[in-house]
Amino acid sequence: MSVQRKKSRRVVEREAQFKQYRADVQSRGKPFYPWAMFHDAAMSTVVVGVIIGLACVWYFTSGEDPHDVGWLGPRYAEPADPGTTTFVPRPDWYFYFLFYLLRIFKWPDSVILGTVGIPTILMILLFALPFLDVRRERRIVRRPVAVTALLLTAASMGVLTYKGAVAEEATAAGSEAVEQLIEEQNLPEGVRPGLELFLRTCTSCHTYAGEGSSNLGAPDLTTIGDTGRSVEQFMQILREGPGAMPSFANLPEENLRSVGEFLEASKGAG
Ligand code: HEC
Repeated sequence: MSVQRKKSRRVVEREAQFKQYRADVQSRGKPFYPWAMFHDAAMSTVVVGVIIGLACVWYFTSGEDPHDVGWLGPRYAEPADPGTTTFVPRPDWYFYFLFYLLRIFKWPDSVILGTVGIPTILMILLFALPFLDVRRERRIVRRPVAVTALLLTAASMGVLTYKGAVAEEATAAGSEAVEQLIEEQNLPEGVRPGLELFLRTCTSCHTYAGEGSSNLGAPDLTTIGDTGRSVEQFMQILREGPGAMPSFANLPEENLRSVGEFLEASKGAG
């Protein structure tokens, strides 16, 4: 007598589904070659065609002049100015969500988690998905987990994109922050240009009296003037760019000096 284990309901269901699938293939299936190949080739041609078309429209409706924008934007932007001190770097809109993520995850505590940890976990989950979910079910209403995950992902990317789009740069925070800092930190009126330049250029790494964000392990500079260094010494630090800090040797001398004066005057609120 053979011991026949009762098949679980799930297996029975799967067998029935597979049978149905075989029957469907028999009755109305089409071979991969040439049907699916043709289908994919045609669609790819359409997509590539649209891209080439858009590129042509962009090129032929715009001109050499950066102001000649055409239908889809200018052919050339204004030439880059390596000496600029007012440029506020911002990503293109489709990177706003990443841009905002980097503002949430701050150096050094959670940056590794945010940039390596979470994406790696998500990639592993994606790879594991075909093994985790082996059902043949494809109807949306029968896949609540997948649909919820999709909606949550779309919603959070939407929110992050929006937040990134309206996020105010510490640098663009404007004169309000300048006034406040001058008052609260007992800074002389004369260091205003240096402070403005500092807020635009340096607060991506250094914090100062709660302004800016801390990156690459750059120290807080609220009381850097207490180190007793001279304006010239500060200018020299900026030219050299110690450690992970970039060199600012290409800044005009007067800008270096104004930042140096501001640093020298930075002795904290007390
Ligand atoms: C890309 C990040 C970054 C930017 C931008 C940056 N710094 Fe730094 N800065 C650092 C790091 C990192 C250090 C620590 C270097 C080290 O290892 O000694 C540092 C050190 C310094 C120090 C020395 C602090 C000390 O106590 O010795 C000064 C002063 C300074 N920065 C001023 C500035 C100024 C002014 C600007 C803007 C013109 C600026 N930094 C822009 C990353 C940066």
